[in-house]
Amino acid sequence: MSYNNILSDHQNGITTITINRPKKLNALNKVTIQELHDAFDAADNDENTKVIIITGSGEKAFVAGADISEFADFNVEQGGQLAAEGQELLFDFVANLSTPVIAAVNGFALGGGLELAMAAHFRVASTNAKMGLPEVSLGVIPGYGGTQRLPQLVGKGRAMEMVMTAGMIDAETALNYGLVNHVIEIEELLPLAEKIASKIMRNSSVAISEAIHAINANYEAGVNGFNVEIEAFGNCFGTEDFVEGTTAFLEKRKADFPGK
Ligand code: COA
Repeated sequence: MSYNNILSDHQNGITTITINRPKKLNALNKVTIQELHDAFDAADNDENTKVIIITGSGEKAFVAGADISEFADFNVEQGGQLAAEGQELLFDFVANLSTPVIAAVNGFALGGGLELAMAAHFRVASTNAKMGLPEVSLGVIPGYGGTQRLPQLVGKGRAMEMVMTAGMIDAETALNYGLVNHVIEIEELLPLAEKIASKIMRNSSVAISEAIHAINANYEAGVNGFNVEIEAFGNCFGTEDFVEGTTAFLEKRKADFPGK
C-alpha cells in the first residue's frame, strides 16, 4: 500500500509506522488519520507482524496535535463528529488492536499526538520529548480520548493539572508519572523499541492478544474485567500456541509458536 503522509516499513516481525509530515510537526490531519487507520489495520492483519511501532519523522516531533487548520471553523455538530470519527478510526482502534503497539515518542507529543501515544499499548520516549494536552489553550478540550486515558495512566490529579494548565512535561517527568516506560537518547529510541519488541515476539502472539483484551477490559465501563480474564484464559487452552508452549516447557526446549 502506498501512503502520502506516513511510511510503513516491515522488518523482522516488526512493522514501523512513521508519521511523515515533519514540516507540520507531523500534525494529524484527516488524510493522515485515515492512512494511519489503514496502515495499522494492514499490519494487524499481516501474520508476519508481531509488533507495531509508531513514531514520528524528524527529531522535533512525534505529533504536535490534531491539525488545527482543519477544524478552526467547525460548529458544534462538526466538532462532535470530528472526535467521534477520530476515536473510532484511530485512537480506540489502536488501543483495541490484537497486535502489540509501542509508541516511540521522539519529540513533541501534544494534543492528538499524546492521545495517539496513549492509545498505544505502552510508550518509550527520547530525552528531548515533551508531552502535553494544550487543548484548553485553544478553547477546546482533548477529544481523542485524552480526558479518559491520561488519568488512567498518570492519576486524576496529575491529569487535571496537565489539562487545566495546558502545559508540557518533559520526558523525565513523564517517566516519573508512569506515562512512559523508558527514556533514552533519541538515537537509541528505535533500537530500544525494537529490543522490547523482540522480547515480546518470543512469546505467543495469540496469548498476547488475549492479554491485551483482558487488560483493556479493566478500563471499559460496565465490563467485569475479571470475567473477561476468565474467558480469555479459557480461550488460550484451545490454541496451538498453548499446546506448543506447555509441551516445549515440559520437553525443556524453547517454544516455537505457530503464530498469529
Ligand atoms: N496543527 C497544524 N499545524 C501545526 C500544528 C498543529 N497542531 N503544530 C504545528 N503546526 C505547524 C505550524 O503551523 C508550522 O507551520 P508553518 O511552517 O506552515 O507555519 C509548523 O507546523 C512548525 O510549527 P512551529 O509552530 O513554527 O514550530 P515551533 O518550534 O515554533 O513550535 C510547537 C512548536 C509544538 C510548540 C507549536 O507548533 C505548537 O504549539 N503547536 C500546536 C500544539 C497544539 O496546540 N496541539 C494541540 C492541537 S488540538
